[in-house]
Amino acid sequence: MQDTSFAIHPGNKKQIEGTDYRDAGSVTAVQKGASHLQLECENGYVTILFYSSSVARVVMNPKQVPVLDDSFAVIQTPENIKVDLQEQEGSFTLTAGNLTAHVTTDPLRITFLDSSGRVLISEGDKGMGHSANGEIVCYKESDEADHYYGFGEKTGFLDKRGEKMTMWNTDVYAPHNPETDALYQSIPFFMTLRNGHAHGLFFDNPGKTHFNMRNGDGTYHFSCESGQMDYYVMAGPTMKEVLGQYTGLTGTMPLPPKWAIGYHQSRYSYETEEEVRELVSQFIEKEIPVDAVYLDIHYMDGYRVFTFDEDRFPDPKKLIADLKEQGIRVVPIVDPGVKEDPEYGAYQEGIRQDHFCKYIEGNVYYGDVWPGNSAFPDFTKDDVRDWWGEKHRFYTELGIEGIWNDMNEPAVFNETKTMDTKVIHENNGSPKTHREVHNIYGLKMGEATYEGMKKNLNGKRTFLLTRAGYAGVQRYGSVWTGDNRSFWEHLQLAIPMCMNLGMSGVPFTGPDVGGFAHDANGQLLARWTQFGTFTPYFRNHSAIGTLRQEPWSFGEDVEKNVKKYIDLRYIWMPQLYKLFRDASVTGVPVMRPLVLEYPEDPATFNLSDQFMIGENVIVAPITAPDTFHRAVYLPEGNWVNYWTEEVIEGGRHILTEADLETLPVFVKRGSVVAHGSPKRSTAVKETDYQLHFYAGEKGETSYTVYDDDGETFGYETGESFEMPVTFSYDQTRLSITSGSVNGTYTPDWEELTVFVHGADELKEISVNGNTAHFETLGSGIVKIRVQR
Ligand code: GLC
Repeated sequence: MQDTSFAIHPGNKKQIEGTDYRDAGSVTAVQKGASHLQLECENGYVTILFYSSSVARVVMNPKQVPVLDDSFAVIQTPENIKVDLQEQEGSFTLTAGNLTAHVTTDPLRITFLDSSGRVLISEGDKGMGHSANGEIVCYKESDEADHYYGFGEKTGFLDKRGEKMTMWNTDVYAPHNPETDALYQSIPFFMTLRNGHAHGLFFDNPGKTHFNMRNGDGTYHFSCESGQMDYYVMAGPTMKEVLGQYTGLTGTMPLPPKWAIGYHQSRYSYETEEEVRELVSQFIEKEIPVDAVYLDIHYMDGYRVFTFDEDRFPDPKKLIADLKEQGIRVVPIVDPGVKEDPEYGAYQEGIRQDHFCKYIEGNVYYGDVWPGNSAFPDFTKDDVRDWWGEKHRFYTELGIEGIWNDMNEPAVFNETKTMDTKVIHENNGSPKTHREVHNIYGLKMGEATYEGMKKNLNGKRTFLLTRAGYAGVQRYGSVWTGDNRSFWEHLQLAIPMCMNLGMSGVPFTGPDVGGFAHDANGQLLARWTQFGTFTPYFRNHSAIGTLRQEPWSFGEDVEKNVKKYIDLRYIWMPQLYKLFRDASVTGVPVMRPLVLEYPEDPATFNLSDQFMIGENVIVAPITAPDTFHRAVYLPEGNWVNYWTEEVIEGGRHILTEADLETLPVFVKRGSVVAHGSPKRSTAVKETDYQLHFYAGEKGETSYTVYDDDGETFGYETGESFEMPVTFSYDQTRLSITSGSVNGTYTPDWEELTVFVHGADELKEISVNGNTAHFETLGSGIVKIRVQR
């Protein structure tokens, strides 16, 4: 119906945005707790509580005292902190360290301020309210200076100022364009950058939520057609601190196994064992690295999950073992729909043990997906998640260590594209309709899968790729951006999309390299692979019926180009791995918009076509055909062209050259990146650990080398290697000092090779106080060995 004029039917107008808004009104009764305030208002009940000295939560329920323990996203419990509560005539002030809530009572309006009294979030004519049909809404004042980042997986540019967005996990096969709103992931979180300071807001409601950042009257608002108004405020004041506070609430990404961040090859589908073996032999023969090969839906017997088709894959165990010998993992797809087939084990168990989603009347819900009529596990039940997790023993016993979850919005082949919203999710005795919790289906499936695999793998790290998710999805999985197309425009839109996913707590993301639907061509594949080298998740995937797009599909020149960049991924692996480790601790993403590092620089506010890896590397992909130059913005400081060693003064735009073999990359002068050597997969040990120091005129730079075994959880109990290395320098002298090692892991490499770039005038180098011998390599680069 959305494709007809019905889409603009006057009756479709959202009530809540019209005259039906009922303000919560004035406060009529107050209850004070140690770290919370409980208010009864004319039109609703409100709780304000603090989670930490920088995070507060506000919940409004129009009908009853708010329910506080029903979040699927938040895993943090409120800290036992001291909240200072002051009562004035007509208002209350709650202060906890960095955040103050000022609450006026007639009518109820809440203002959040930071410790210096700066207003972060305020309400004007309208505050919280609801409509007769149960929609809830909250209006906030916006500022001319505001820029908005986050909102998960969205099309369009980086800054979401002036956008309207809906959160409703949706399988969108139609080409994604700036008007495509709800996609596969729903992350109702964003941060506001205002005059160099940031704060965050997370609207924790897994129903269909809307954000309107273009009211045009000095406000923005967010609403939902079901559930409670329930939001968290994060005080910042930096964007990185907001990310820390948000991932404090919803969790950080677990450190993935190293193989998960190598190059992955997929196709819908590699249909037989023979085809998979042939594919792998091509990679080996052509010496193109690969860490994982994916099995799409054809591996199964009639698309039944937890089965292999015996004709197509007669001996999966041997296939998987043989590939592992070559350093390659196999990742099979697992969709939630379980085929309705009384002779199929998973279906029998699901029915007999009452694991499937049902209507309130007791009948199982069935929907049409790849296997035909299918039932859907109710992942809100603990015992169903345990059952589903345990079923993955089928895969782990075959030697599989990673799983790909798809269609988990859940997608259903019908008019609404999903499950009937009347279906019930039992939620361990606190039942909800699908309408109320639609957006958490993929998250809970991810939890079941991740936890099951983790348990079955006995101490080995697992890898999960998921299409759908909600706030907190980073705890379980990596996210690819769904069914894009082999369009240059889709390469362009993937850049801000992945950056905003990173700004929404999800660091491990990437699009299908080369594009999924439509036919790729050689130039597009080359440019997209160049971009993929630096996206946290790096997988080439394409759809049934499209041109093949493996690295060698478009002739030798493209193959060489693509190989160069897949090799480069492995060269950069030590740096990427360290950034993954950092992200798993701090929540600050691997792939970053420039604004995250330069929040005072207006040129970065909506910079959507280039990004950073960590805090010191700028990547500026080419995203149009036959284009061999591009404008790049380099913020303040001096930057070194990674390929030519040219030093370029920043604070301006430059025009850079980029022939078909060149991806523009710039490293900030005075900083360090770690490199390794190209290898056929991460299974090959790294014996050549390099630090590349881009020397400046004078200064001191510190870098902490991070490594661990890359496959177990040993690092959680100290089996890691962390070593600070300090570079103190002026133009003629450099002293390198390695600090004491933290952790008990012994890396495979025995010495570090330090490359000093921009070393033309360097005369003397000392390592840990002793004069060191160094080798001059040309282009102003010298090389020194440093014992571990
Ligand atoms: C969906 C997925 C795609 C997959 C296909 C077949 O379209 O998004 O990646 O290849 O289903 O399983």
